[in-house]
Amino acid sequence: MSEGDSTGAQRFVGKAAVVTGAASGLGLDVARRLVREGVRAIALIDRDAAALARLAAEIGPAARAIPADVSDEAAMAAAFSRLADWNGIDVLITAAGILGPITDVASCAPADWDRVFAINVRGTYLALHHAVPRMVGRNAAIVCFSSTAGLAAAPTLGPYSASKGAIVMMTKSLAVHLATQGVRVNCVCPGSIETPMLEQNLAGGPDPAGRAAMYRARHPMNRFGRAEEVTEAVLFLASPQASYMTGVALPVDGGRLA
Ligand SMILES: NC(=O)c1ccc[n+]([C@@H]2O[C@H](COP(=O)([O-])OP(=O)(O)OC[C@H]3O[C@@H](n4cnc5c(N)ncnc54)[C@H](O)[C@@H]3O)[C@@H](O)[C@H]2O)c1
Repeated sequence: MSEGDSTGAQRFVGKAAVVTGAASGLGLDVARRLVREGVRAIALIDRDAAALARLAAEIGPAARAIPADVSDEAAMAAAFSRLADWNGIDVLITAAGILGPITDVASCAPADWDRVFAINVRGTYLALHHAVPRMVGRNAAIVCFSSTAGLAAAPTLGPYSASKGAIVMMTKSLAVHLATQGVRVNCVCPGSIETPMLEQNLAGGPDPAGRAAMYRARHPMNRFGRAEEVTEAVLFLASPQASYMTGVALPVDGGRLA
């Protein structure tokens, strides 16, 4: 068996990939798995420069660590200009995101609203804006990170839920536009997955243990998901096995939306 996943898959041999949010949680797991499945080059974009440097050292010469704030247009233009020597991009994963404040939509402070939309929506848009021209005609694939909160109401995560809903429609709109241009565009909608972001969410109320039990119980499987369970779905959507899938918002949620 090769060094791919447990099935030995090597679906990305020779491919060039870009992953935003690669320094932590789901983006980190996806980046590692793309490397195990053979990518020739991988650009790691995140605002956490120290964690990116550690990951790049772990991966070796295939990795290019590019510290950048995804909401900053100049920084994103500069980040993609560092890939000028690549002949194109085959895979784009947009995982950078923040949870923002625990609040309903109407009570959200304007500055918090703008920050969540700047990172989650504008940050995703800027990655698409700079990557897509270099993906056209390559049998390329994009997987964006939405959330179950982008498909069903998360009333106490109002700005987050609204921003993730926007990502679903950005995905569908771009997927249809690019449908005959050799770029598939899909998104995943994870439920509650064990990452630093979930820990932050659970710690955000007066009773973290009670909040954890409540969140767990919202998922029919009565457990949180693991990063690798989301990665499986992301890599499937990015792989040739999903060649007839575009514009999909795929829940990975232990039955939550069922
Ligand atoms: N963990 C979950 O339960 C869950 C559920 C649904 C969706 N998601 C989504 O999955 C994605 C990854 O989340 P995670 O759980 O791995 O969280 P995480 O906090 O572990 O990782 C998020 C990463 O994004 C980076 N980031 C944040 N703002 C940035 C910015 N402005 N510029 C560049 N990088 C930035 C962070 O530095 C971090 O490395 C997010 O889009 C999140 O909304 C997570």
